[in-house]
Amino acid sequence: MTCTKLLSPAEEPVIFPPVVSRQAKASDIEAVVELDRLCFGRRAWSVRAWWEVVTLPEWTTVVLEDRGEVIAASVLLPAAAVFWLASLAVRPGRRRRGLGRALLCDALARARDSSARWLSLEADRANRVAVELYRKEDFGLLRRFREDGRWRQEMVHRLGRRRSVRAGSGERQTSARPVSLI
Ligand SMILES: CC(C)(COP(=O)(O)OP(=O)(O)OC[C@H]1O[C@@H](n2cnc3c(N)ncnc32)[C@H](O)[C@@H]1OP(=O)(O)O)[C@@H](O)C(=O)NCCC(=O)NCCS
Repeated sequence: MTCTKLLSPAEEPVIFPPVVSRQAKASDIEAVVELDRLCFGRRAWSVRAWWEVVTLPEWTTVVLEDRGEVIAASVLLPAAAVFWLASLAVRPGRRRRGLGRALLCDALARARDSSARWLSLEADRANRVAVELYRKEDFGLLRRFREDGRWRQEMVHRLGRRRSVRAGSGERQTSARPVSLI
């Protein structure tokens, strides 16, 4: 499966009418916090973390909106070589319609447009649905680790020429991460 349905960031906002894709703004914070809680429960980010990823320029937060309702969101931390997808969530009643893949492909397109080499993300190993989506979009396993009693894994999609990416190599701006991850 490839990211053929997605428009590049330069061609925003339409993905699948009437759903529109756009950068999140401060007025979306309440909606993305609610979406995050619906999708991640007690592991959802704080309001403050969402405030940071929506308003600070180093983050790119994209929402999908259907007639005024935020139905999905992604959070991307761009960096020179390795873009990091920090969050991806689709409202429960809106799943299985290609929205998660569309946001993932949007992140890939943004990373590619910036000449990044890799898109990286972390997922619970037990999150079968998400891991399957990433696998289908050519993400490979980089490392497994334990966090808060759960097995997690970092997966990467190679965008450009082969380049060595090691955990803790300093290529990623980990210091800007919010408190909890996907
Ligand atoms: C993971 C998530 C973003 C997928 O969003 P989605 O819009 O339902 O996904 P899509 O419709 O684009 O489906 C993409 C792929 O995901 C997988 N998938 C999605 N729903 C699935 C399901 N219920 N069962 C099995 N696989 C599923 C399939 O591989 C699917 O590919 P296919 O269409 O070729 O079969 C969504 O389930 C979600 O928000 N989950 C809760 C939050 C979360 O876990 N986020 C990821 C954290 S790492």
